[in-house]
This record gives sequence, structure tokens and C-alpha cells, in this order.
Amino acid sequence: MKDPISLTTDFVELYQEIRTCEACFLHKTRKNAVPGEGPQDAQVMFIGEAPGLNEDREGRPFVGRAGSFLEELIVAAGLKRSEVYICNVLKCRPPDNRDPLPVEINSCSDFVGRQIQLIDPFVIVTLGRHSMRRFFPDATISRIHGQPKTVEGRLIVPMYHPAAALHRGNLKATILDDFAKLPGFIDRVRSLRQGEEVLENSKTNPVLKPRQLDLFEE
Ligand code: URA
Repeated sequence: MKDPISLTTDFVELYQEIRTCEACFLHKTRKNAVPGEGPQDAQVMFIGEAPGLNEDREGRPFVGRAGSFLEELIVAAGLKRSEVYICNVLKCRPPDNRDPLPVEINSCSDFVGRQIQLIDPFVIVTLGRHSMRRFFPDATISRIHGQPKTVEGRLIVPMYHPAAALHRGNLKATILDDFAKLPGFIDRVRSLRQGEEVLENSKTNPVLKPRQLDLFEE
């Protein structure tokens, strides 16, 4: 399968490892592993749950109905799908789209960690509870959705999964509201980062002080 966007060697190797991974049983039932897609310099990264039927067929994340809705949400947040990075907690489809098992999440965890390291995004949007738990293991999505927190210098924004919003009509307005806040979060992080760069580049100017990402902390 051809990756649509040119990737560095690190990424090509990582995708190759993912596509040939046999660490858990899911490799026996997959058609294609789904590493993820998007530019390597993306500032915003979305992490979903696991490939479904269409994703397994195509080897690309979020290409089914949930994908169309995610794309709508991305556009509503003032972004283009082609400028963000999208991947999942699991790289292979669980049979019948069942929930990921802890052993499967553990098997893929290092892949996700390496994707985060290579992309180095300013903002990570987690989609659904399995993705949220990577950063907030004890949290409940109904309590923290739409509320960003800084984790290891990055802004993590937990959101409901778009598929949940499609299945539970009452969540649709909530996810739309949460995504409407995303441009503001991204702008704040961008300007904080720019401020830090200015500071870095003008060490001679003692007036500028770095503003901390922990402005998002409660
Ligand atoms: N749901 C996900 O979490 N990921 C996909 O790629 C598709 C649906």
C-alpha cells in the first residue's frame, strides 16, 4: 500500500513494523493494518480507537461514516483533514468492532508513542475513552470531554468518539460544541509556542518571558 504523503525513513520503518506486526491475535483476522496518515509536521494529531471494516479494507484510518463525520468536525474547527495527523490506539481491527482488549492496547502502545514522538504535535485530540485513557487513565469521558489539559508539554483535548455521537443522537450537539472550542485552544497553544520561539531567538531581550502551556491547567 502506498502512503499518500512522503515520509521520512523513521516513519517508513515504523509503518512497515506496524503492517507486519504479529504481537497480538488481531493480526490473524486483519486484511490490512492501519498505521495512520497525515503530514509529519502536523501540529494537531487525532487519536481514535481502532480500525473498522472500511479502514481494515483500505488500510487508512477513519474512512467510513465516523470518518466523514470526523472530517466535518475537523473542517468546522477551521482545519483541513490533509493538514492533521490521524491514527488509532489499535492498528488492527478487532473482530466485529468489539472494544479493544487491554492486551491489544498494550501491544500497540509503543507504536502510538513513537508516532507522537515523530510528529511532535502541539495538540492531541483523543477520540473516545480508550484513547483518552492513554493520557488520563482514571478519568471518565462524560466528565472531562472538551476540557484540555497539558501533559508533558502538549495540550491534550479529550473528545467523544464521532461514532458515539452518530449512534447516540444526544451526543452530537455536545461533540459539535466541544469541537467549536478547538480553534481557540489551538490558537492559544500556537501563540504560546511562537512566544517561546521569539524568546529563544532573542535571549538578549530580558523583557520577554515564556508563557506557560499550563495556562490550561485548572
Ligand atoms: N473508528 C476509529 O476509532 N478509528 C477509525 O479509523 C475508524 C473508526
